[in-house]
This record gives sequence, structure tokens and C-alpha cells, in this order.
Amino acid sequence: MKAEKSGGRPPNAKPRSSFSGRLGYVLAVAGSAVGLGNIWRFPYLAAKYGGGIFLLVYLILMLTFGYALIVSETALGRMTKRSPVGAFHAFGRGRAFSFGGWMNAIIPMVIVSYYCAIGGWVTKYLFEYLRGSTATLANDNYFPDFIAESASAEFWFVLFSLAVLVVLLAGVKQGVERVSKVMMPLLVLLAIFVAGYAVTRPGAMEGVKYLLIPNLENFSWMTVVAAMGQMFYSLSIAMGILYTYGSYMKKEVDIEKSTYQVGIFDTGIAILAGLMIIPAVFAFSGGAPETLNAGPSLMFITIPKVFASMGFGTGAGLMFFLLVFMAALTSAISLAESGVSTFEDQLGLSRTKAILLMGAIILLLGSASSMGFGVLSGLTLLGMTVLDFLDFLANSLMMPVAALATCLLVTRVVGLDKIAQEVEQSSAFRGKRLYGFFMKYLAPVFILVVLLSSIANVLGWISM
Ligand code: TRP
Repeated sequence: MKAEKSGGRPPNAKPRSSFSGRLGYVLAVAGSAVGLGNIWRFPYLAAKYGGGIFLLVYLILMLTFGYALIVSETALGRMTKRSPVGAFHAFGRGRAFSFGGWMNAIIPMVIVSYYCAIGGWVTKYLFEYLRGSTATLANDNYFPDFIAESASAEFWFVLFSLAVLVVLLAGVKQGVERVSKVMMPLLVLLAIFVAGYAVTRPGAMEGVKYLLIPNLENFSWMTVVAAMGQMFYSLSIAMGILYTYGSYMKKEVDIEKSTYQVGIFDTGIAILAGLMIIPAVFAFSGGAPETLNAGPSLMFITIPKVFASMGFGTGAGLMFFLLVFMAALTSAISLAESGVSTFEDQLGLSRTKAILLMGAIILLLGSASSMGFGVLSGLTLLGMTVLDFLDFLANSLMMPVAALATCLLVTRVVGLDKIAQEVEQSSAFRGKRLYGFFMKYLAPVFILVVLLSSIANVLGWISM
């Protein structure tokens, strides 16, 4: 039988390698989970969709669905020792299985393309801090002008994407990950420092309150839709990644415990990033609604103001964007790697050809995303720019479908008992009954409701 797996080694090269233990596993998964999703995406969604109420909905979703899906994906991966397309096929052939597997496999390919466009913005800012343009970057118009000038945005996007592809081609992925393990703690320390500085600016307390105290008046159904998409995105779930990680996990590692640790770490960083950015919106822009609704631009507009206002701002800005760059690069590499191994395993391509195909997809979709604020700004899909559209497509439409496929696979085909057996290989399954309830009833019903309502919303049938 053909070896269906991912992880970058040519088929049949070596027996499947595994992580050294729980710490190794948690670090690896946290390394893939922490990225632009925490630092760039979470703060802008929280600012836009209600602050504290968004955070509350996010936490509830993470503790229910997030938990149940991480446990499922990890257990399925460890049970079958396969990545998603293979894991689905391990339980049956039919079209439904292929669909479920492919849905999980295609999502990272969509995400990585616009992820690289944002990686390009980060690279540009890193370069500007290197040149000491600290004061210029803090201008309100700097960022909109930069992304509107397509040639420049495209240049930085291509540069970032090339870095990703070169790392994959050179096969030094391990090295990059090792570097990022060192940088991750530095990022946490710097984030604590910047957040501490930001929340103590005059007027910033309003922003802290906005982020941490739920206010029902700010609630809308979109809060739930956005929080669910963010939970999938940030935890790297519903896209097959954890099947792959699970397949490398040793039998004695406690699945539940490592799930909690990854969740806490990932959410902690997201909240920290929120505390760097949202209070600054209040301190430097008076909490103006236009700024709170800035969307994907928020980090790039707000953070430079924080740096411009402090001593050593250039150094701090440089450090910050260097660390964000590393986090973005490692995430982009593992996203692209997931696409590459799907092509290798399922299409039988050589590794080089698979990387080139992935590169072509990134270039095509990523360029459209990057130019969507300039020359392509006339091109909107369902009223969204290309970047927003791809983001919506992946997080609000495809991921719920992929998550639903996993729920059905677990409850209808594999059976909750077999998942429980897998978890119990290492420890008691403490949340077993809740887990069963989430997978069987809560998750499918909830995902369907959210999915249908977000479709109805973009089609203009209902407004949320
Ligand atoms: N979770 C990552 C972030 O927060 C993004 C991401 C999604 C990712 N899926 C992934 C990273 C798969 C690595 C692998 O930025």
C-alpha cells in the first residue's frame, strides 16, 4: 500500500519519526499555532466584532469545539498514522471520505497564499524599521498608501513567498523551526513588554476595558461567525494539520493535557497581542470607530504609533517585526509543507514538482490578494477584497465543512469508543462524556447554523 503521509520525507524513506514526549509535542504544535493568527488576526477581529464579547464567545468556543476537535484530529492522526486524505481513506473509500479528506487538505493551500501577502507587509515593515523610518510609519496614511501601490506590495509579497519556497526546496525546514523555538520565548517577552507599555498610555484603559469586559450591546451574530473562524484558524484546526502532528505523537503522550496546554498558550498570546494593539487604538486614535473597524490593516496602523511614541522605538519596532516575521515564516512554511505533501502523496508528484505547484498557487492567489488593495481594487467578490474573500472562504465556509466532516467521521464511522480507546492509551479520558456530547450534538448543529447563516449573509438574504 502507498504510504500516505506528510511531514516532508520522501515516501518509504524511514519509519515515521515521532516527537520526543509531551513537551516536544506541545512545543511543535504551539509553534505552528502561534503566528499571524494571534498577532495580526485576533486583535483586528476583536476590535471589529465587539471587544470583550468577542473574547468571551471565543473562549467558550475554544473550550467546547476547539477542545473536541483537537482531541479528535490528534487521536485520528495517531490511530491511523496518516495525514488527512489518508486518514479519511483508512476508514472507507467512497466519495464522502475523499471529500472530507480533501476539504481538510485544500484549506492550508488557500490560507498560505494570502498569509504570504501579509508576510510581505511584515517584511516591508521590518525593512523600514531597519532603515529607521519609525516616525514615517506612524502616519495614518502610510499603510493605506503602501498597500494601494501594488508594485511595492507585490514586491514584498514575492520576496516573502520566495523565502518560504527556498526553505522548502533547500530542505532546511528543521533548522528554521529550531530558530523559531528560540524566538518564540523572545516574542512572548517582547509582547509582554510592549503590552505593558501600551496599556499604561493615557486613555489606554478604555481599550483594556473594551477588550476584556464583555458588553452585550456589541454582540451580533457576526461575532459568533468571526469567533468560530478565528478559533479554527488560530489553533490550526479543521485543516488536517493536527492529523499530521498526531501521527507523529507517541502513544504515551496525554492527548487531553497537551490539548489544554496548546489552547492556553495560543490564547494567551492572542490576548497579549490584543493588549498591545487595542488599548493603543484608544490611546492614540481616541478609540475612533473607523480605526476599530480597520480590519486587516489594524496592526500595521496602530503598532507603529506605539513605537514612535517611546524611547528606543526603532529598536523595539525592529525586534517586534523581526519576531513577527519569524512567526509568520515558520507558519507559512508549515502551511505550504502541508500542501506539498498532499501533492506528493495524492498526485504522486516529485517533491520539487510539488513545491513548484504550491509556489504557482501561492503566486497566483497571493498576488491577487496583495494587489486587491491597489490595481485590483475594482475586483471584489461578494463585496469583499480578494484577501478578505479568501480569508472568509477558508475560515467561515471551508473550515466549518471540514470540521463537520471530522465530526461525522468520528461519530458515524470510527465511533466515539475507538477515539476514547486511543486517548486512554496514555491516561484516563477525563472529559469523555462532554467530548461525546460536543461531537455528537453540539458541534454539528452549531456548525451547520453558523455555516448556513454566514452563507445567507453573504448572499444578502439576511443581514447580521
Ligand atoms: N495558526 C496559525 C496562526 O495563528 C496559522 C495556521 C493555520 C497555521 N493553519 C496552520 C500554521 C497550519 C501552521 C500550520 O497564524
